[in-house]
Amino acid sequence: MNAPVQPLNGTPLLVARQRNNAWSSRLTFILAAAGSAVGLGNVWKFPYIVGEHGGGAFVLVYLACIALIGLPILMAEILIGRRGGGSPIHGFRSLAVREGHSPNWQLIGWMGVGCAFLILSFYSVVAGWSLSYLAYAIDGRFGGANLAAGEDTAQVMGELFASLLASPETLIVCHSLVMAATMLIVANGIRSGLERAARWMVPGIFVLLLALVIYAATSSGQFGNALAFLFRPDVSALTWEAVLVALGHAFFTLSVGMTAMMAYGAHLQKRVSIPKAALAIAGLDTLVALLAGLAIFPLVFANGLEPGAGPGLIFVTLPIAFAQMPGGGIIASLFFLFLGLAALTSTISILEPVVQYFEQRRGRSRRSTTLIIGIAIWLLGIGAALAFNVWSHITILDKNLFDFLDFATSSVLLPLGGLLIAVYTGRVLSRSALSDELGCGKSTLFRLWHFVLRYITPLGVGLVVFYNLV
Ligand code: TRP
Repeated sequence: MNAPVQPLNGTPLLVARQRNNAWSSRLTFILAAAGSAVGLGNVWKFPYIVGEHGGGAFVLVYLACIALIGLPILMAEILIGRRGGGSPIHGFRSLAVREGHSPNWQLIGWMGVGCAFLILSFYSVVAGWSLSYLAYAIDGRFGGANLAAGEDTAQVMGELFASLLASPETLIVCHSLVMAATMLIVANGIRSGLERAARWMVPGIFVLLLALVIYAATSSGQFGNALAFLFRPDVSALTWEAVLVALGHAFFTLSVGMTAMMAYGAHLQKRVSIPKAALAIAGLDTLVALLAGLAIFPLVFANGLEPGAGPGLIFVTLPIAFAQMPGGGIIASLFFLFLGLAALTSTISILEPVVQYFEQRRGRSRRSTTLIIGIAIWLLGIGAALAFNVWSHITILDKNLFDFLDFATSSVLLPLGGLLIAVYTGRVLSRSALSDELGCGKSTLFRLWHFVLRYITPLGVGLVVFYNLV
């Protein structure tokens, strides 16, 4: 299963594709890539940023960002991955050289690998929260009966979350479990690791989510209000900042900007249409984000709670709702199981490109590469976990380590990576190579896509990066 050494300047062969290590079908690729896209971004972040930015109008802008900027970059990433073969860094380099450009374009790949390292460290800590909450739910902490009479549910739930963040041991144990599970899957390679996991986890995620939406729709009496909140645009609530948040989130939620989708695309068979696959992935991701909103907001409204609580929305506000409704303990267990699975299919996709690169570069086995890289990320993640308690006084740019990692990646590196990928695709790769790989000739769709990558994306993303830095 181990890939042989492939010198970077050697023949650009895709080791993996020849070694029975490609996705076994279009469906498994789409499942795995949708699993990557669907994650904490959809369930934790999307609902709370919608809540913070006033609902419908924000959703509309977000949808436009996905369609106009996210989707074209997603197509570009899969394309570069498949055409370049091998690891993302290798892919950027070999394609640029083939077109007579500088090998230094591989720096985009380096940035992506570095970014993956940073994202996974704090993402795994948040994924760990969902594990803790799953344990709390199974333990019955969200069953209303377990609250002493007269106890204030809101206060209890607020304290529960605060005590989790204040406990370095719990945070580190949960973060370690997430990293261990992620490493175990990635160590087994595409077919017997990533694909096998995606085959049952991704359908499981959908089934759980549908059950939760049906529950929210039938039991809360607030489904109509949730629909109105998500889909009735109130343009006066929209701010310039909201537009930038929506654009930044479009990258994060589609897993683009950091070469994760390239790493998945590198194992995709030639006959699969990239535009169709990308459309399916972006469609499923958007569907999950909206359905997550429809599972969460009715419960929040039905219990007289506010949607604008920020990052605590699903860890404080939602548990208050769980504790106040009949059968809340079971619903809470299903919800946090759903969240944990969604997070795990994403963590594996963040680790994969890093492992792919070092496996190919150093010629080590996938297992030992995964172990070494995984431990390094795990260590950084411990820093992110300690940022909530013993290291809370350590700040970079006025942010604790956790917030800094989140800001540096989601607000700066991912958009910047997306921008560079757009420039690389639109200006370095030739039109003929692109249309050959996309397989849609020089159709209107192709020209539109190319135009967006050359002009619209760099402009839009440039604005975001500039705004976030200034
Ligand atoms: N898209 C995932 C989410 O919404 C997170 C994620 C997975 C990601 N892989 C990524 C984000 C690569 C950026 C880059 O939770």
